[in-house]
Amino acid sequence: MGNSCAQNSQVNIQKEENLSSEGNYCINPELPITDNEIQLLKESWVTVSQEWNEICTMAFQRWFKLYPEIAHLFGTTLNNENQLSQLIKSHAIQGHANRFKKLIEKVLQQMTEIGKLSKTLIDYGKFHHSFGAEQKYATCLAISLKYGVCEVSKCDFKTANAWDSLFQYLAGMLKRGMRSAKEEEKISEANQENDQPTENLSIRNVIGGENKIVVNENDEGESN
Ligand code: HEM
Repeated sequence: MGNSCAQNSQVNIQKEENLSSEGNYCINPELPITDNEIQLLKESWVTVSQEWNEICTMAFQRWFKLYPEIAHLFGTTLNNENQLSQLIKSHAIQGHANRFKKLIEKVLQQMTEIGKLSKTLIDYGKFHHSFGAEQKYATCLAISLKYGVCEVSKCDFKTANAWDSLFQYLAGMLKRGMRSAKEEEKISEANQENDQPTENLSIRNVIGGENKIVVNENDEGESN
């Protein structure tokens, strides 16, 4: 499976030109995933969802080894291997893994409503920016999760590519939101310098609006 993962880097270059991993042009440039890949993802999700904890353990080990400084965003610091395995088992990290899992479920259900989805993901990006999550961390998380899926589920080359496309799409939208939040901050600062009043909205309150994807573990009344 390591082999198929390595080959994905070539596919990524194609995607910059809105080509899917199978060489077809994508109908919607916002979603670099073909209908066939969506089908593969749905089929693969049956097993991947059951292996999700193992996949996340593998992925988070890479993520935190590369960027130990992000541990503080989950309420701790990392000084040794012992702390790393404790962090990965912690409520904060398991919570994030579960929210990510629910998000994938929703995305796989709502692929056809790509406009709504992208907006919600961009708002998540703004929310992540508000507590200091940077674009490079999201890039690394997406690559690490793809690695985890490849290693644990031993999926075939096409399915591995489809997972790569999905994680890149999720991280890409979050990163767009992060950049947009940065720009908004700059504008807000410039306005303040000019003594202009600015609206003070908490991004947590505006995420998704009526299209909110409910991903918190405690949220019972899930949106469609
Ligand atoms: C593809 C990238 C990512 C996705 C899809 C994702 C998904 C999510 C979701 C759905 C939530 C819950 C939001 C809510 O409660 O309204 C969340 C929260 C959070 N995320 Fe992420 N995330 C990503 C990347 C990151 C990164 C890069 C970091 C840190 C460097 C991070 C740290 C957190 C933290 C600290 C929270 C709040 C606590 C929690 O809800 O677990 N996330 N994320």
